[in-house]
Amino acid sequence: MSDAQKRHAAIRALDFVEGGMKLGLGTGSTAEHFVRLLGERVAEGLNVVGVPTSERTAALAEELGIPLTNLDETPELDITFDGADELDSQLRLIKGGGGALLREKIVATASKRMIVLADTSKVVKTLGKFPLPVEVIPFGSRVTAMKIAETARAFGCEGPIEPRDDDYDVPFLTDSENFIYDCQFGAIPDPDGLSRALNLIPGVVDNGLFISIASLAIVGTDKGADLIE
Ligand code: 5RP
Repeated sequence: MSDAQKRHAAIRALDFVEGGMKLGLGTGSTAEHFVRLLGERVAEGLNVVGVPTSERTAALAEELGIPLTNLDETPELDITFDGADELDSQLRLIKGGGGALLREKIVATASKRMIVLADTSKVVKTLGKFPLPVEVIPFGSRVTAMKIAETARAFGCEGPIEPRDDDYDVPFLTDSENFIYDCQFGAIPDPDGLSRALNLIPGVVDNGLFISIASLAIVGTDKGADLIE
């Protein structure tokens, strides 16, 4: 993972921003590069408004003086810029490494387009090496995890399904106070089918597969950035 590549992707992403736009602001280290660069443009007079995808991004944007709104006030956004943990050639993504997948998906799908920012390490042939995060409500979460495993097996996905926690075994809580299970499948042969099936399990709030949501990926390289569309 190259921080310079992430920054190159963020620099290129700024070319897509125009005055008056309503923007979704992603979460994670790549999105942070974009938010910081956007903050510099705002300080120079660019007029945009942002909807953050996490409390973390909200705090950063506020610190940088980027005007913020929310989806109740501004239900349709122009572009969401966000990172990804993995992306394939069809622009299918795994997201949620930072635990913000639910708000990220809500904000991205409220946007006319989602542009993914990534470094070269995120581009994969087959999704699934990165553990798929699944957000579940705390009530009955062990049963939900068993159903996730059962459902995943039917889609050819086997592997440990671990509750996310910190170094002291305290469960990780999302901004919506849910748990995350990280599913180490190794490979996901049918991401579309798996995503739909997971979201039918009672207790699952959403999963980190983003299918047919992103329309462009900007992949930062050592020298600049490549586009995948
Ligand atoms: C957070 C995310 C991030 O976009 C994803 O984890 C990528 O993060 P980074 O840019 O730090 O590699 O989905 O929930």
